[in-house]
Amino acid sequence: FNFAGSATGMADSGIARAGGVAVPSRPIVIAHRGASGHLPEHTLASKALAFGMGSDYIEQDVVVTKDDELIVLHDIHLDTVTDVAARFPSRKRNDGRYYAVDFTLAEIRTLQARERVNLATGAAVFPSRFPVAATGFSVPTLSQEIEMIQSLNKTTKRNVGLYIEYKAPKWHLQQGKNIAAILMEVLRRHGLNDKNAKLFVQCFDPVSLKDFAAKFKPEFPLVQLIGDNVWKESDADYKAMLTPEGIKEVGRYAAGIGPWIPQVLDALDDSKAIRKGSFLDMAHTLRMEIHPFTFRDDALPKGYSSSEDLLRVLFGHAKATGVFADQPDTVLRYLVGTRD
Ligand code: G3P
Ligand code: CA
Repeated sequence: FNFAGSATGMADSGIARAGGVAVPSRPIVIAHRGASGHLPEHTLASKALAFGMGSDYIEQDVVVTKDDELIVLHDIHLDTVTDVAARFPSRKRNDGRYYAVDFTLAEIRTLQARERVNLATGAAVFPSRFPVAATGFSVPTLSQEIEMIQSLNKTTKRNVGLYIEYKAPKWHLQQGKNIAAILMEVLRRHGLNDKNAKLFVQCFDPVSLKDFAAKFKPEFPLVQLIGDNVWKESDADYKAMLTPEGIKEVGRYAAGIGPWIPQVLDALDDSKAIRKGSFLDMAHTLRMEIHPFTFRDDALPKGYSSSEDLLRVLFGHAKATGVFADQPDTVLRYLVGTRD
């Protein structure tokens, strides 16, 4: 891998800034949970690999521990990606799940992180990926990961960004944890509440994100994630958000949107042109960032038989300004091939 100028051959100086928002000369590649298609998600190993592959941004999902530390973990539960059930069998809640908020950081540091499994079957969610039985990985804190990326930026003279999602703010509040305030404090401590920092903060919960914007007036841009109502990511009505009016409202507090890839594909007509009056049309009109999730070259959406076909539609037709990718290397290779 080429640390110096990234695998794309495009230097980081190709990304300028305007009003706190990155203005790249090509779509940005966001390593989703690190290079999670190649190494267990959210481990520092997967982040280092994503960095080495030339990703523009590396994603962190964060949740809170019992002792108010932010750890980099996708779920509020520890059991899908660690050996917590074997190590602390008596610490499950009545629903049979092991919650990060019930464990101290010292306890979480003793766990082995591993490739994601389906709890019902015990089988790997992505069987062709890294072996579930592999050991040697742990759950990092957000601070550890920030320090690693900042240090790699220093040693490689690059400027790879952070793309942090704070998870389930309403649920955390019910547990007595203000995850948004804890996150802001960590960011301030690391000097990241700065208009020159390369950072996005994302969340599925519009009530919390709007509040984040109003209360903290952050120097960095916010991104509103858009889910499907059935996922119950928040109390929001994402169907209403996926309208021109919904996007206009989002544009009042966020610089961009993170829609689900099928939602983006649905906003295109049969000739793959952006439908007039669609949420996508409005997002472009408002010059918002559009960062769909999640590109997986081992789980392409229905109707797409190759990564190239999907990436051509996302970038060439939908004009996405970036993408979350489990395999950032595949997206970077595609962008090299399409460069002028
Ligand atoms: O944050 C973008 C994307 O990661 C949202 O989905 O569930 O993978 O966090 P999820
Ligand atoms: Ca995420």
